[in-house]
Amino acid sequence: MNLASKRARRRSSAQARAPGKIILAGEQFVVLGAPAVAMAINLYSNAEAKPNATNDGSIGIDIPLRYLSKSATPSQLTDIGGFLQPLRIAAEATLDHIGKVGQGVDVNVDCEIPIAAGLGSSAATTVAIISAVSQCQGADLDRREIFKLAFIPERFLHGKPSGVDQATCIYGGTIQFTRPSTVKPVQYRTNPVFLLCDTGIHHETKRLVGSVVKKSLVEKKLFRDYLDQVREISRGVVRALKTEDSVDLGSLMSTNHELLQKIGVSHPKLDQLVRVARRSGALGAKLTGAGGGGCIVAVCATARDRDRIARALRKEGGTPYAISRDVHGVVARPIVTVLK
Ligand code: PMV
Repeated sequence: MNLASKRARRRSSAQARAPGKIILAGEQFVVLGAPAVAMAINLYSNAEAKPNATNDGSIGIDIPLRYLSKSATPSQLTDIGGFLQPLRIAAEATLDHIGKVGQGVDVNVDCEIPIAAGLGSSAATTVAIISAVSQCQGADLDRREIFKLAFIPERFLHGKPSGVDQATCIYGGTIQFTRPSTVKPVQYRTNPVFLLCDTGIHHETKRLVGSVVKKSLVEKKLFRDYLDQVREISRGVVRALKTEDSVDLGSLMSTNHELLQKIGVSHPKLDQLVRVARRSGALGAKLTGAGGGGCIVAVCATARDRDRIARALRKEGGTPYAISRDVHGVVARPIVTVLK
């Protein structure tokens, strides 16, 4: 469909939802060029967009108060404008892309993904906004267009995003991602038994990624070696998923955690949860996302093991989640109003 016919449809309200993600291998190193393996999960960010009634070109972004009060740091609470800025940038970039600058839209966002926890809440939210805003203006964007547009708010937030977060929530399922834009779906039948556990400590992706990039420029030889190891780990993780070998998968994930410790992005609480998960019978565990707080992901032999390990992690102060794989990625639909 060409752009003109894409836009021929009438404007109406539209809804979109995009999943969060976990990274099974390669976070941080993916920014430096190594492949990462990530899986979309069944926690979602939802956006609803409608053309602005006054048609004055303004962009309204609304988020529930609990979204701020539960998850934001105190400085974010006093800077709601700053908090909303990347979301507004996502809507503006979309209108610009489809040639509708000056068309006002109102966007309501509701995100069930814990924020600043390594689960890709910002990418899922901006991807949902891009999809809902384009749909409400009568444009169907393809996945590549959404991927490119999502870099605009992601760069504003993170400085140097690899693109793995938005690729995972756009495509869904499990993917192997390499910068700048290679997305290879990883197909397998049975999902391993994963357990996610949140430390409750918020992290700042921009600062953590910045520190790793800086270190990689100083310790070039060491990082070349790390990147080789991560390439092997990611390759091994894809193989373990395809052959349904959770023992191998767990061992590779634990090795990946050790590398993340070495580059200084772990946190004592993450290390403690990883240790307790393994001591309680997990086949392997690692931090997921930028590190410095946020979540760990553990792979377990059975659902019964997962429940036992979850109880042990809860005793350590973590918040466990049983997660499953989202296979749809971002989904958008117009909201049709039936006139009587
Ligand atoms: O923002 P997070 O915690 O979901 O982590 C994103 C993954 C990183 O590799 C740390 C950054 C990136 O852009 O790839």
